[in-house]
Amino acid sequence: MRVLLTGSSGWLGRYLAPLLADSGHKVTGLDVAPGTHTQVVGTVADRALIERTMGEYGIEAIIHGGALHKPDIVRYPRQAFIDVNVTSTLNLIEAAVAAGNDRFLFTSTTSLMIRSDVRAGAGEAGAWWMDEDFGPIEPRNIYGITKLAAEQAVKLVHREHGIAALILRTGRFFPEDDDTHASPSGPNLKANELLNRRLTVEDAAAAHLAALEAAPAIGCDTFILSAPPPFARAEAEELARDARAVIARHHPDAAALYAAAGWVLPETIDRVYDPSRAERRFGWRARSDFGSVLAALRNRTAQPFAHDPGYISPIARQERDSCMC
Ligand SMILES: NC(=O)c1ccc[n+]([C@@H]2O[C@H](COP(=O)([O-])OP(=O)(O)OC[C@H]3O[C@@H](n4cnc5c(N)ncnc54)[C@H](O)[C@@H]3O)[C@@H](O)[C@H]2O)c1
Repeated sequence: MRVLLTGSSGWLGRYLAPLLADSGHKVTGLDVAPGTHTQVVGTVADRALIERTMGEYGIEAIIHGGALHKPDIVRYPRQAFIDVNVTSTLNLIEAAVAAGNDRFLFTSTTSLMIRSDVRAGAGEAGAWWMDEDFGPIEPRNIYGITKLAAEQAVKLVHREHGIAALILRTGRFFPEDDDTHASPSGPNLKANELLNRRLTVEDAAAAHLAALEAAPAIGCDTFILSAPPPFARAEAEELARDARAVIARHHPDAAALYAAAGWVLPETIDRVYDPSRAERRFGWRARSDFGSVLAALRNRTAQPFAHDPGYISPIARQERDSCMC
């Protein structure tokens, strides 16, 4: 298919564009910042540009991954989040309908489910078990608010016009350091997060490809993308009290492998993302999980996740470089 990929210069885009191309799709990348996989440099908020691009490249499907996201909160006013995340999503899906496309993918975020009480820690029943039915949803920042509004706009256009529309609520896959956690940090933190709230960028890209192919058969649905947790829902209470005991049950050698690496396991886990609907409905399951982390420690091979403390979004890099001139 001829696919328009927004955010093609970004972290996801640089993995997803080649994966789509290798799978036989003809990809047109659109991003406000230039990049290897970006043919159209411009903003998704520019409706005329979107309509022109749809026609010029004969676009048959859109994957909308371009966005301002959490690290951008300190860099941009709230209005920019509304323009880029909400207005652009509406522009794109309406352009898709006008062009007669039968499918649209929206890259959303698990972060919109993190209310202030979820962020504060485990709930009364233990770790929050977060699947697509989790609610009520009350995002705590402008990033989550605009992603939720965009999800609603996508569903509205699906209801009105029937275009297949899949919403991919993606867990963490960024390569940079977390901006809020101090200890543990770096690769240790990323390894721990593969237990309950992270996936690799390769797996995120593979999920988008699988969703693109399955979309017409699904119609409209929301999916959490994360590495499969080793835990069962029945362990939620114990996870919030003694995560190490639960981890030991599923991975008896985890403590020794971690100790040898000088890493620490989480003492408690207060939320678990459940990606099982994506597996049930379109057959995607992340290839890398916490078991892969342990295998890498055991075999002294590279960890499955990328870690790059220096990574910043292309749009932020572009702005930083223009300020330095
Ligand atoms: N990185 C994560 O851990 C994570 C987690 C959950 C969801 N997501 C979502 O995944 C998607 C991709 O994120 P990423 O990690 O690749 O981020 P990224 O910042 O590396 O890439 C986003 C891209 O969007 C582009 N962009 C920003 N504003 C634009 C505009 N107005 N017009 C066109 N392009 C614009 C940026 O230039 C950038 O290349 C985003 O929708 C993000 O919300 C990311």
